[in-house]
Amino acid sequence: MDADARLRVTDVVAGYGSNVVLRGVSLHVDEAEIVSLLGANGSGKSTILNTISGFLRPTEGRIELDGRPIQGQAPHGTFRRGVVQVSQARDLFGDLTVEENLRLGCIIQGDERLGLEQSFEYFPRLGDRREQQVSTMSGGEQQMVALGRALMSQPRILLLDEPSGGLSPRFVEEIASIMHRMKEDGVTMLLVEQNMRLALDISDRYLILRDGHVIDAGSTANIEGSHDDIVRAIYL
Ligand SMILES: Nc1ncnc2c1ncn2[C@@H]1O[C@H](COP(=O)(O)OP(=O)(O)OP(=O)(O)O)[C@@H](O)[C@H]1O
Ligand SMILES: [Mg+2]
Repeated sequence: MDADARLRVTDVVAGYGSNVVLRGVSLHVDEAEIVSLLGANGSGKSTILNTISGFLRPTEGRIELDGRPIQGQAPHGTFRRGVVQVSQARDLFGDLTVEENLRLGCIIQGDERLGLEQSFEYFPRLGDRREQQVSTMSGGEQQMVALGRALMSQPRILLLDEPSGGLSPRFVEEIASIMHRMKEDGVTMLLVEQNMRLALDISDRYLILRDGHVIDAGSTANIEGSHDDIVRAIYL
């Protein structure tokens, strides 16, 4: 393990009241690396992301970004440090336009003009619709706005919670190719993704979460023959 991981989570315990969900989770993500967090429904994947971004306070353990602690900080504090989350609910402002939502990504950090240019390069469809009210867009288009807004703030680490969730195959393909482009551009990501093919294809490493622990981890290189083993580890 290298000491200068972009993100390092060590022995984190967290949950909701008496319901302890994470029972000592450790993981790290290096700069420009994409790590996929796999696990059955309810295994605590979203809980990990919410604990890293500060929506949930860990009761034990350490979370470090660029070697400095962030655990216990409120979401606006971790955001200022560069932890940017796209949650399963996407958290967009439906009454605002595409461009207004994108600009919100820059409130704390990032160059607005450059960010908008980059967003419309990643998502040409959004450029055509910058004045459209977000609540009138399809689920796939809204997911693009959410990703675009996250990129606007030039995250140190992007936490993505099921970016392909609920999208039609065509949009899944589109999101996949955008994520490949983000990877080429060196965006560091911790990814939760039910679409195993997409997750293993895009990421450098995977982790399997069960019973509040990381029970298995590995590199995604030369993994073709091991998909069944991974599925078994997740679900059985
Ligand atoms: N706000 C909450 N209050 C109480 N319990 C919660 C809350 N959010 C999640 N939980 C519980 O924590 C456990 C882990 O939930 P979490 O959402 O982290 O799972 P997940 O792995 O993201 O699942 P999914 O794949 O379905 O999104 C579940 O048992 C869930 O019921
Ligand atoms: Mg979840």
